[in-house]
Amino acid sequence: MAFSNILCQASDGIATVTVNRPDKLNALNAETISELKTCFAGLAGDSAVRVVVLTGAGDKAFVAGADIGELVKMTASEAEQLATGGQSLMDCIENLGKPVIAAINGFALGGGCELAMACTFRYASESAQLGLPETGLGLIPGFGGTQRLPRLVGKGRAMELILLGKMITAVDAMAIGLVNSVYPGDELMDAVMITAKALAAKSAQTTRLVLGVVNDGMLVDQRSGCRLEAGVFGLVGASADAREGCAAFVEKRKPNFNGN
Ligand code: COA
Repeated sequence: MAFSNILCQASDGIATVTVNRPDKLNALNAETISELKTCFAGLAGDSAVRVVVLTGAGDKAFVAGADIGELVKMTASEAEQLATGGQSLMDCIENLGKPVIAAINGFALGGGCELAMACTFRYASESAQLGLPETGLGLIPGFGGTQRLPRLVGKGRAMELILLGKMITAVDAMAIGLVNSVYPGDELMDAVMITAKALAAKSAQTTRLVLGVVNDGMLVDQRSGCRLEAGVFGLVGASADAREGCAAFVEKRKPNFNGN
């Protein structure tokens, strides 16, 4: 499918989605959000795609936030609809059933930081800067930032970042757990692709189950989460891929998973 604001191409089980509005630092206008939703819905249903990489066009920004030009004259109900729509995109990415790696190649601010937080891993270039600067606009984060940031970095640091609207460097973001790893800019995509290939070689079913149980477990207390885990372990324990993986270990060979 052709899009106006994003690019999507796939090969060898890895799809790369690029937000493509470099002259606006890849800001998320309504059309871009809608295209991302359509694109991710398609990737969810495409069994040939095992892993998704999400990045921004150009060398300056991953995504510099929601498009501020569209925020200027919102009514209360339009603002709520914008937040609900953005949150549904983030939920779709977080619960895609396939890993999504954010390749943060520059500014990841506001909705861009929220987009990155909905991804499974966040790898950043040394020049990237992250933050939720909405309070500086008289707003609050609306695409899940007030909820995902404290879960990733703890309440105290999240409050500091959100209330002050501070931008932090990729290295500082890694120190608090907001970013997984940091690379020189010209090495970022190679590092992301190495991880994407390693993920694509895993059993698709096992990956989907891990994503589901970790995501669902984060929403409930630990005891309930462990019950979820036992149920999923029961499902996976007798699967063809588990039989193959364990047999391969015993037979001292590489496993050949077929995703069942
Ligand atoms: N929405 C709409 N347009 C945006 C944007 C956003 N979130 N972020 C950047 N842009 C546009 C700028 O308006 C500018 O467009 P123009 O050339 O037509 O004037 C272009 O992208 C380049 O941005 P500019 O501000 O000139 O780059 P800079 O290097 O001086 O500053 C930032 C970079 C990221 C610090 C700055 O653009 C910024 O603060 N952006 C807003 C971040 C934000 O508050 N995000 C949360 C939104 S809820």
